[in-house]
Amino acid sequence: MEAILNGHRCHYTERGSGNGLPVVFIHGFPFSRATWEAQLEALPENIRAIAYDVRGHGKSAVGDGHYTIELFVDDLLALLDHLKIDAAVLCGLSMGGYIALRATEREPGRVRALVLCDTQSAADSDAAKLGRAGAIRQIQTSGTAAFVDGLLPKLFTAESIRSETGAVELIRRMMRATDALAITGTLLALACRIDTTAALADMHQPALLMFGEEDPITPPDAGRQMLAALPHATLELIPRAAHVSNLENPADFNRHLLSFLAQTA
Ligand code: MLT
Repeated sequence: MEAILNGHRCHYTERGSGNGLPVVFIHGFPFSRATWEAQLEALPENIRAIAYDVRGHGKSAVGDGHYTIELFVDDLLALLDHLKIDAAVLCGLSMGGYIALRATEREPGRVRALVLCDTQSAADSDAAKLGRAGAIRQIQTSGTAAFVDGLLPKLFTAESIRSETGAVELIRRMMRATDALAITGTLLALACRIDTTAALADMHQPALLMFGEEDPITPPDAGRQMLAALPHATLELIPRAAHVSNLENPADFNRHLLSFLAQTA
């Protein structure tokens, strides 16, 4: 399905009952809504599940590549308006978590509960910003292939990479299909995002934090820090998983997700 949000074409998938608990899935960078397939399939009919492609990703339009996390939040809120959803459960992985956290800070009334996966409230350090600047330079001079290939070993455990699971291939194809302008634009948006740590104490929604035990990008300690600051949060570590824990170990991930949503509905 598609919608024009803030003048921009956005593609999304919707499953389940229109009257059910609305849950919006927000993918990481540079992926697409296809990363949530194993979750959408596992959800009961009484959940209204929506997974969308963030601007520049998947089938959503790339536009001018001038992105900010604020703009991604504007798009998310416009999607809720388009779907006539007053308040949704937001489930975001990594960049999706940054978007969910900032949306909660900006519009707490639109967020019923939070599922934050392999993400963090902290902004980029100077070293991380320099890393993003280097990646932009590399992509502008030699394309996205080296960037994508360099990212893959940080997303999955060594064991998953060795056994080349379907999930590894899915993510590789997805990243390679992402437009260079969208990748560089999103790198800038990530580097410029604000720190939402100070706002955590005011996020009174129930929150489930899930982190791959072996995540090198947003390690479980990032989850422990948010756990200490959020008023109503629980933390689950996902075994045999690195950064894309929902893809690497969907069985454990879905068990925690379903139990959390059953308590929230
Ligand atoms: C992601 O998976 O969305 C990225 O790792 C986020 C980031 O680079 O900060």
